[in-house]
Amino acid sequence: MKLKPSKREQIFSLPVALISTVSREGIRNAAPWSNITPILRPLDEVMLASWIKRDTLTNIRETGEFVINIPPVGMEEAVMVCSRNYPPEVDEYEMAGLKPHFSEMVRAPGIEGCLAWAECTLVEEILREKFSLIIGKVVNLEVDENFFDEEGRMDFENAKPLSCILGPKGLTFTCPRGTGKSADYSEMFLRGKEVLSQIP
Ligand SMILES: Cc1cc2nc3c(=O)[nH]c(=O)nc-3n(C[C@H](O)[C@H](O)[C@H](O)COP(=O)(O)O)c2cc1C
Repeated sequence: MKLKPSKREQIFSLPVALISTVSREGIRNAAPWSNITPILRPLDEVMLASWIKRDTLTNIRETGEFVINIPPVGMEEAVMVCSRNYPPEVDEYEMAGLKPHFSEMVRAPGIEGCLAWAECTLVEEILREKFSLIIGKVVNLEVDENFFDEEGRMDFENAKPLSCILGPKGLTFTCPRGTGKSADYSEMFLRGKEVLSQIP
């Protein structure tokens, strides 16, 4: 079976983050984002894709700052309230009943009840005709220690970070489940492979 190339978003399991920003006037904004990813490992930059008509994009341009919040299962309703196209003067924290989480390095607050908060500053905007790519640098990264161990490993079975699968008419919220297999990064390197192949 074939799908149209424009349906390519339907083949990915996508993250669901909430991006919080403030406007130049200090109005708080929160919006769900799935086109968002760290740029490689283990650097400190992230990238997100935005349609041009987004208060989030305007706020990032105006203030040079944003926070990536990782909501858990249970926040689906708040996520969908934040996805509504409220005008810029509406405080989405109030509309969705969100409480601010203190940010150390940026003016925009995070969102209480999330699993992790990545405070970011704008590094570069790559503007295209219909969309914009924002590259940000994480300047402060905080996680809820109820769901992360001392090395920063997420207990994802309990944390239940939201993700989603997109369909032709909407999306389904999902969350990760382990397959029973974990792998060390060294397995990606030939030397690691050789070591493994020597095991009888
Ligand atoms: C799960 C989910 C993921 C989304 N991901 C994106 C995205 O990656 N980029 C984008 O421009 N809009 C995305 N949207 C749409 C925005 O969240 C929505 O247009 C929102 O109203 C934007 O708010 P703002 O104008 O306050 O920035 C997504 C919506 C949902 C529900």
